[in-house]
Amino acid sequence: MTYPIYLIGYMGAGKTTVGRLLAERLGWHFVDLDDAFHEIHGLSPADYIRTYGIESFRRKEKYVLEDLAELPIEKVIYATGGGYPCWEDNMECLKELGTSFYLRWQPHHLAERLALTDLNERPLLHGKDATEILEVIRPQLEARSPFYEQADYIIDAPVEDTLDGSEDEQLAEQLYELIMTD
Ligand code: S3P
Repeated sequence: MTYPIYLIGYMGAGKTTVGRLLAERLGWHFVDLDDAFHEIHGLSPADYIRTYGIESFRRKEKYVLEDLAELPIEKVIYATGGGYPCWEDNMECLKELGTSFYLRWQPHHLAERLALTDLNERPLLHGKDATEILEVIRPQLEARSPFYEQADYIIDAPVEDTLDGSEDEQLAEQLYELIMTD
């Protein structure tokens, strides 16, 4: 396995939470690329998209990831933005730069998890409940899946009917085992 590690997946997949837990466990660095974008450009991804549009965001987001990859530090877990892998040749870039893991969830679980988060940073979902969120995300997830599924590893989140809140820890543990046994 080559480093760094890139976590990819839809909004609400736990890329940030799982990435943080995993980095702590491994004693590695952790970088959330949405936060890095905010620091570099002075606006959160949501505010940037509202102000300058999605095309401009995607271009800048691409440079943020590629610039950080130049740093001479390998033991890093990156949480990518949910749309990053689905733009231009970004999936190929990830595969060249390190190892990618897709955190794959069933859409209704993503909707359930997203409904519990602060949706101010997610304008398309703001004010919606889990059922309405599911209607929005289902087609987008379907369109994005072929990109996400090009990841080096696909990690399936638990598929039980009810979530109990321990899923992110379970995913981090799964990833830890995979990395340690490589
Ligand atoms: C986006 C997901 C966000 C952020 C931006 C666009 C998307 O990241 O990059 O708002 O297109 O799915 P998270 O997946 O970390 O929420």
